Amino acid sequence: MSDIQDKVIIITGASSGIGAATARELAAKGAKLILAARRESRLRELQAELSGTGREVKYKVTDVASFEQMEALAAYALNEFGTIDVIVNNAGIMPLSPLHQTKISEWNSMIDVNIKGVLYGIAAVLPHMKAKRAGHIINVSSIAGHLVFEASAVYSGTKFAVRAITEGLRMEEAANNIRTTIISPGTITTELLDSISDPDLKTSIVEVSKIGIEPASIARAITFAIEQPADVAINEMIVRPTIQKL
Ligand SMILES: NC(=O)c1ccc[n+]([C@@H]2O[C@H](COP(=O)([O-])OP(=O)(O)OC[C@H]3O[C@@H](n4cnc5c(N)ncnc54)[C@H](OP(=O)(O)O)[C@@H]3O)[C@@H](O)[C@H]2O)c1
Repeated sequence: MSDIQDKVIIITGASSGIGAATARELAAKGAKLILAARRESRLRELQAELSGTGREVKYKVTDVASFEQMEALAAYALNEFGTIDVIVNNAGIMPLSPLHQTKISEWNSMIDVNIKGVLYGIAAVLPHMKAKRAGHIINVSSIAGHLVFEASAVYSGTKFAVRAITEGLRMEEAANNIRTTIISPGTITTELLDSISDPDLKTSIVEVSKIGIEPASIARAITFAIEQPADVAINEMIVRPTIQKL
């Protein structure tokens, strides 16, 4: 296994759920972290928790839907730590709704965060990684990036897009020694359902999500992909609760 110790890793969506769990897992293995999200108080608390254990952790308030802010995030990482080894493009939202409700604003937000946010994350780090001919870009898709569920048309569209974009990136940058990983979680217990605005739909999704597993399960999968030797790329993983059928 390659050493995670001292790897410089940017994590978007680090203020809760899978992103925060990934930060804890990677910090425990000695990575140097840059945490990004919009809620500064959450980032500050997590930084304090991890720094208290002697880890090198910085944060930068960032909206992934802004390319300028993603560029500034990468510049901050380079300024603080001198390099970027890995980015985990994890930030995402899931305001599910059936298409006939025409929740245009929620569709736009999902496209901005789930698709453009990933593209901007790639664009922010790729010049640096290409120049040093090394790096690892990890994009969080979903089981909804493989299957379409009731009310998931737009969310699934964004997560199918994450897989297509990541596969394109893999083919384009393989010769430049840049690793790519798509992680597709099943049901994970996080704050993701909070963004569902239809109360009845939210109640039914909360019910079926009771099978969810801890976000640390995904953090361990991400860690596994990072700690492989540099010539080994874990390109795609699906991680579900054992009892999840679809
Ligand atoms: N939970 C599941 O069952 C599940 C299943 C499959 C895939 N996923 C995917 O896993 C990823 C993480 O979600 P989660 O389950 O951990 O949910 P979560 O607890 O709600 O975390 C989502 C994270 O994304 C951040 N975020 C949202 N909009 C953002 C923006 N515009 N700019 C920057 N950060 C933003 C949030 O931080 P701020 O609000 O502070 O910005 C938060 O840290 C998402 O891509 C999600 O689609 C989750």
